[in-house]
Amino acid sequence: MTAPTAGLPGAAEGPKHVALIMDGNGRWAQARGLPRAMGHREGVQALKRTVQAAPSFGVECLTVFGFSTENWRRPAEEVSDLMGLVRSYVASDLNRLAREGVRVRVLGRRTGLPADIAAIVDRAEAQTAHNSRFLLQVAFNYGGQADIVDAAQRHIDKILAGEATGPLDEAALSAGLSTAGGPPVDLIVRTSGEQRLSNFLLWEAAYAEMVFQNVLWPDYGAGPLGEAVEQYRNRDRRFGGLMPQPALATG
Ligand code: IPE
Ligand code: IPE
Ligand code: MG
Repeated sequence: MTAPTAGLPGAAEGPKHVALIMDGNGRWAQARGLPRAMGHREGVQALKRTVQAAPSFGVECLTVFGFSTENWRRPAEEVSDLMGLVRSYVASDLNRLAREGVRVRVLGRRTGLPADIAAIVDRAEAQTAHNSRFLLQVAFNYGGQADIVDAAQRHIDKILAGEATGPLDEAALSAGLSTAGGPPVDLIVRTSGEQRLSNFLLWEAAYAEMVFQNVLWPDYGAGPLGEAVEQYRNRDRRFGGLMPQPALATG
């Protein structure tokens, strides 16, 4: 466990909400001469370890990128492997997550998902809806651009139905995103050494801190998460304002 730095001048507390771009499953498998599917399978183990470890760092919400709107471009066999992992993860872990007080929320478009996956997603959300100890948001068939478009369309539909008046502002658009009502994103982590968002949380990333780690996702867990949290705690978050005055200088 990482030593808390809260109380140091300018040090950020938290993070309460960490978003993870779980990247590098394929490279992990390739490096071992294994099929990519094995990398994805190990990736699920890494996700379990990370969810387990998160509360010990004070993290209250994890948002993980499981499948992007662009991942449909992958070979059909790989897409089908990834859908299969959703089925087995929910089958093996949903009851435990529900018992442990985890609320599961799935971000992204339901249309386009295989019917049984859409049903599994609904069940996972319904079964854990009353939980509040920890929030696990899984972005699946999710794209940041698609989510912003859907939010804008929701606002247009409300105007047409006489339930809202224009103009569209930040609060109204946020309210239509699939992350609406959740905590603000404090930290976005990407594994595997790539340094891009790949269409993840474009709107929500506005003032999030970013950490890029060279570890491949199947090797992730408490250790790397602790290092990312440590980096976050050494950042100054200004939100466009001025740096917080060091406590000693003002006292
Ligand atoms: C991340 O690992 C998992 C998904 C995108 C579903 P990748 O499959 O992207 O692994 P690399 O980037 O090819 O190593
Ligand atoms: C982003 O990773 C999507 C997920 C982690 C689910 P990708 O591997 O799909 O991103 P690119 O193609 O390298 O940008
Ligand atoms: Mg990748």
